[in-house]
Amino acid sequence: MTMDVNNFEDMNDTNNKNLTIRLFNVNKRYGGKFALKGINLDIEQGEFIFISGPSGAGKSTLLKVLYLAEKVSEGQILIEGMNLARISSSKLPFLRRRFGMVFQDFKLIPNRTVYENVALVLEAAGAKSSFVKKKVMQVLRTVGMDKKFKALPPTLSGGEQQRVAVARAVVGDPSIILADEPTGSLDSKSAQLILDFLMEYHKKGATVLIASHNLHLLQSTVRGRNVEISEGTINRTATML
Ligand SMILES: Nc1ncnc2c1ncn2[C@@H]1O[C@H](COP(=O)(O)OP(=O)(O)OP(=O)(O)O)[C@@H](O)[C@H]1O
Ligand SMILES: [Mg+2]
Repeated sequence: MTMDVNNFEDMNDTNNKNLTIRLFNVNKRYGGKFALKGINLDIEQGEFIFISGPSGAGKSTLLKVLYLAEKVSEGQILIEGMNLARISSSKLPFLRRRFGMVFQDFKLIPNRTVYENVALVLEAAGAKSSFVKKKVMQVLRTVGMDKKFKALPPTLSGGEQQRVAVARAVVGDPSIILADEPTGSLDSKSAQLILDFLMEYHKKGATVLIASHNLHLLQSTVRGRNVEISEGTINRTATML
């Protein structure tokens, strides 16, 4: 099937207003090897998506191309009607603010404190310092990291860093949350807490994508869709009841 890019965009504008994310024939290659191959996926505003699949399947790559941390090799991605291929660099920070991303390797700034890592998101958006302070400490409290707000990331355990990464992803109340193995470094109790926390944002209307190879997480999540990928291709999508 071929489709004109302009028609693809028009479809989004006219018929599918509630679609937040559309991927059309997306390929991502590293060297000659496909990390994503022929991905077609429509995600509605407010949906909960669980991306599963074995190690190396392409889960992280899928989240990274949505966040524009990686460019697609072929294909198109629309986010809230905007074609990622055509976003000017001046508009990119505004688009990024719609997203909260938890990276699998956290990507915290090592020489900034826990507080500063989370506050940066709000400061970059021009929030007042009194608001920043209140909001950052509130989110850190929820993930159980408020007492370590002065710590530097390299002095924290993996699970502690992961909780800071989750706090940073949600502090700006993003409309789309992309969480890559957000509980991978946590014990089961902390994992459940973080999952419940992300679910609260979903209940408030955010579109939430969680990527994990841990199928146990699926059982403790709400209604949504499981998108199963292997070798860069969507194997199956199933509704979770
Ligand atoms: N920067 C890169 N350079 C080269 N190859 C890469 C790069 N990033 C990912 N890949 C390759 O793309 C494929 C998909 O990787 P990806 O990280 O998306 O998998 P994953 O499903 O997230 O795996 P895991 O469950 O282990 O996190 C893998 O074969 C990987 O080796
Ligand atoms: Mg991964």
